[in-house]
Amino acid sequence: MAHIQLKNISKTFGNHIALAGLNLDIADGEFFVLLGETGAGKTTTLRMVAGLEKPTEGQVFIDGVDVANWGAAERDVALVLQQYSLYPRYTVRENLEFPLKPKIRRIEPDEIKTRVDRVARTLRIEHLLDRKTDRLSGGEMQRVSIGRAIVRKPRVFLMDEPLSALDAKLREALRTELKNIQMNLGQTFLFVTHDQIEAMSMGDKVGVLNHGRIVQTGTPYEIYNNPRDTYVASFVGSPPMNLIDGKLVDNRAVMAPLNFELPLPVGARTIGATDGRPLVFGIRPEDVYLESGAPVEARVHDVENHGVEKILTLRVGDAMLRATVPARTDVEIEQPVRFAWNPDKVVLFDKGSGVSLRHAG
Ligand SMILES: Nc1ncnc2c1ncn2[C@@H]1O[C@H](COP(=O)(O)OP(=O)(O)O)[C@@H](O)[C@H]1O
Ligand SMILES: [Mg+2]
Repeated sequence: MAHIQLKNISKTFGNHIALAGLNLDIADGEFFVLLGETGAGKTTTLRMVAGLEKPTEGQVFIDGVDVANWGAAERDVALVLQQYSLYPRYTVRENLEFPLKPKIRRIEPDEIKTRVDRVARTLRIEHLLDRKTDRLSGGEMQRVSIGRAIVRKPRVFLMDEPLSALDAKLREALRTELKNIQMNLGQTFLFVTHDQIEAMSMGDKVGVLNHGRIVQTGTPYEIYNNPRDTYVASFVGSPPMNLIDGKLVDNRAVMAPLNFELPLPVGARTIGATDGRPLVFGIRPEDVYLESGAPVEARVHDVENHGVEKILTLRVGDAMLRATVPARTDVEIEQPVRFAWNPDKVVLFDKGSGVSLRHAG
């Protein structure tokens, strides 16, 4: 059981502000991903929950209790780091037994064996149990590190970019495995990453952290489809959302400075997009389509083949925008094409603040 709350947490190192008024609410049993670029404050946040770092201001609650005076051991968290710290001269089995051995835990040898075997089965490392850990591959070592964390049934799992050092294939496999493990354990995971694909594929909830502040918290669906501001819009999604300056004129969306026109985004008026208000139009590449009768002419600037689809870069004057189209779409560089957007899928941001009109309230 662990419901984690961070209330108004600030952390400064000298005069550097690492976290500024951070609020987080992680429900019991939730897979929560904290997503942010390097230096955003992810590790600092994790260390604060673990009790390895004290907030300059604010409070951490575990199951409603302020844990300011609890040391790391009392908080009973398991930490998995990017750099695995296994005992190299010991076997995998000994490494997995280690967290169960301290005298205060008083676990019977039979029980230790049962637990280690069960974890080894879950992580598919049974065949490695008698091997020394310095004879393992990177992926195997990271499995053992995760095993060391889950063998012990802690209150909460904290994972700091545990997959970042692995190659792409392994990362993908472990992503699925970790998610399954979390669902089976039903325990609270706080997982930190700079990789938006990890965040979107694993998280029940995602918190986007930028410069020590949470910009948005939501399900992957909400973050992707209804980003709070242009930062989230361009950080999440690959290729990122197209962001084009413009305004509404009568019943048209007019892009600056080229004055090309696209159909009025659905619902634009009801969220406060008045005529002439400076806006940024956000449209995902998969919601831009080519059609012979479409309103805007562009040139194909670049074509990337991705198997099932192609990512086109379209050029209108100096403006570039991305469109994801089916692989069978036959286009050549510099070919003229016509495009439009799906007016249902356009997100409108205020040009000045960068905040989505849907979120501005
Ligand atoms: N012990 C420390 N002393 C000084 N600055 C620190 C310390 N720990 C972190 N920082 C700074 O705080 C900011 C956030 O760091 P960190 O939490 O490690 O970010 P992330 O994990 O998102 O990359 C960074 O600018 C980092 O340089
Ligand atoms: Mg970090």
